Amino acid sequence: MPSVVLSVPGSEAAAEKLRTSLDAEAGTAFVRHFPDGEIYVRIDSPVAGRDVVLVCGLDRPADKILPLLFLAATAKDLGARRVGLVSPYLSFMRQDSRFHPGEGITSTYFAGLVSGAVDWLVTVDPHLHRWPSLDAIYKIPTEVVHAAPAIAGWVRAHVTRPLLIGPDAESEQWVAAVAGLVDAPYLVLEKTRRGDRDVSVTAPDLTRYDGHTPVLVDDIISTGRTMTETLHHLRGRGALEPICVAVHAVFADRAHDELLAAGAARVVTCNTIEHPSNRICVVDAIADGVRARLAA
Ligand code: R5P
Repeated sequence: MPSVVLSVPGSEAAAEKLRTSLDAEAGTAFVRHFPDGEIYVRIDSPVAGRDVVLVCGLDRPADKILPLLFLAATAKDLGARRVGLVSPYLSFMRQDSRFHPGEGITSTYFAGLVSGAVDWLVTVDPHLHRWPSLDAIYKIPTEVVHAAPAIAGWVRAHVTRPLLIGPDAESEQWVAAVAGLVDAPYLVLEKTRRGDRDVSVTAPDLTRYDGHTPVLVDDIISTGRTMTETLHHLRGRGALEPICVAVHAVFADRAHDELLAAGAARVVTCNTIEHPSNRICVVDAIADGVRARLAA
């Protein structure tokens, strides 16, 4: 029986793109709030004995998590064979340590919630820094889809003589992969973060890269401070107009506009979170990840 794709509210467009790529059946789920704020959920499609693929973008996660958990529980209760979660952006992964006394390590707690609710997880480039892999915290099979090939395709098609720049040590995994695929040089800078918006980044040494276009690559743009601090170093240093590329367009507040104001000629993202800057499509790669899970 074909698998059924269900969307958690807010992820309908992503679910439909994935469903088309998978050639799966579209299911219907309904979620609403009671007048007192509690949540009502209903699945209208037959799911008994079938694989259910729940699609839920987890940026701005607070309002999405309960509907996700309740829909997963409902699908299982209605007899679904397996319930998998496709979350192109996996939230909480940056809280991977107790940075200050008393803090919660929410990446672990969230992994526990998800692992208890669904049978497998597919996501795109989760922020793996202190956790070596999702297996360190998730107790279910996971499939990590890499955006580097799609990003490299975009860079190859749109940028002549790119110089890839990773703004911090964590970004090296993405920047090195893209640089390798486009056969371009890359630099990795050092970042110090003192607070949500208090960030400094070391200046890149551009002396050997005259005539190259700086392409800043990172997994997430949230406040945008990591990228704007990097852009400030490029100003007035003869560098060609820089381009900012990110996997996940989280963009808190006015981050996108602030990047343009700080000198980015373009800001380009993958479509793991719907945003006007989406130019790089990773839907087929996600579908491959889902197929791998369904076949397991
Ligand atoms: C953190 O290490 C990530 O790789 C990004 O560099 C970070 O999340 C970007 O955050 P922001 O845009 O708030 O500086």
